Amino acid sequence: MDKDGTSGAVGKKLLQVLEGKRETIPPIWLMRQAGRYLPEYRTTREKAGGFLDLCFNPIRAAEVTLQPIRRFGFDAAILFSDILVVALALGRKVEFLAGEGPKLDPLSDADGLSGMREVADRDVLAPIYETVRQVKTLLDDKTALIGFCGAPWTVATYIVAGQATPDQAPARLFAHRDPESFSWLIDRLVDASIEYLVGQFQAGADCVQIFDTWAGVLGPEQFDRWCIVPTQKIVEGVRRHVPRAKIIGFPRGAGAMALPYVEMTGVSAIGIDWTFERSIARDALQSRVPVQGNVDPLALLAGGTALDREVDDVMRHLGDGPLIFNLGHGILPDTPIAHVERMLKRVRR
Ligand code: CP3
Repeated sequence: MDKDGTSGAVGKKLLQVLEGKRETIPPIWLMRQAGRYLPEYRTTREKAGGFLDLCFNPIRAAEVTLQPIRRFGFDAAILFSDILVVALALGRKVEFLAGEGPKLDPLSDADGLSGMREVADRDVLAPIYETVRQVKTLLDDKTALIGFCGAPWTVATYIVAGQATPDQAPARLFAHRDPESFSWLIDRLVDASIEYLVGQFQAGADCVQIFDTWAGVLGPEQFDRWCIVPTQKIVEGVRRHVPRAKIIGFPRGAGAMALPYVEMTGVSAIGIDWTFERSIARDALQSRVPVQGNVDPLALLAGGTALDREVDDVMRHLGDGPLIFNLGHGILPDTPIAHVERMLKRVRR
């Protein structure tokens, strides 16, 4: 990357679209494209030991980052890591138990925050930057490399509840009861995320995505305070170091809040989930920024005509403007590889 974050736009479809251009055949990548639906991923993960051991092993993490590129020729690779490494760098304990999701020590009030670091531990994040450098040396010059972080709200929901819960009530309750302390937590995550994303850009990421998986559980006022404002601070903070940084925001479940999100955060593009009405996405969002999405991951799992219809519907509504073809959330572990191939063939025909 050049210092201003502009390198590589020529030849990389994803970066062309992030500049606002339309590609006849849109660039395509899938959220969670490196993962358990791939036998080669399961093999490498087995060798690595635990999931976090895999995240912190640059050689193996680079290997799984590249696996879906070699198999499918996606237009972008996404760094293999996890949003919760930032919680680790801030001194929270994080574990991934096989077959379950992440487990953290939960906390429910200001006292629980007392053991947290104010600033991320650089040594924790260093191996992730090394993964970015490794991938960069191995990636061809047509494929973009996407870095990422979790949005402060989403990472905070895991820090507070200690795990995923149906509507992340523990974090919402904390935020209602003690907004001052909750805002301290969010601010620590904002600073750590800026440093983390800048580190990824400096190591060679072409663009980054901010995953706000739990944005949709927030009411409008809370959405503004805990999703839009912190995201806007991250975008601004990253661009202080990388002026033309391309940043994709993915506020899952934002619904009607997607428009203020686009207008106020300054993201370069917005990822929409599969529930987002596509003609509204075209008229309200794609007229402002490129749109990424939004095939239902269950349509991909189902395959056949259900998948074809979904692919065609995305192309019909969003294909005339700047589009990054993707799912509306991560690929599911049981997804047959043949369905991914079918989808790619249809988008690229
Ligand atoms: O391929 C990629 O997208 C890159 C790697 C990546 C992972 N997690 C690897 C992973 C990315 C971008 C993430 C982001 C992430 N992690 C999010 C935001 C996106 C989303 O999916 O909502 C969230 C909420 C997390 C936290 C997390 N990590 C959860 C809730 C889980 C358990 C759910 C699950 O799928 O098992 C994880 C584990 C995880 N992260 C796996 C992978 C490949 C599965 C772990 C395994 O190999 O057993």
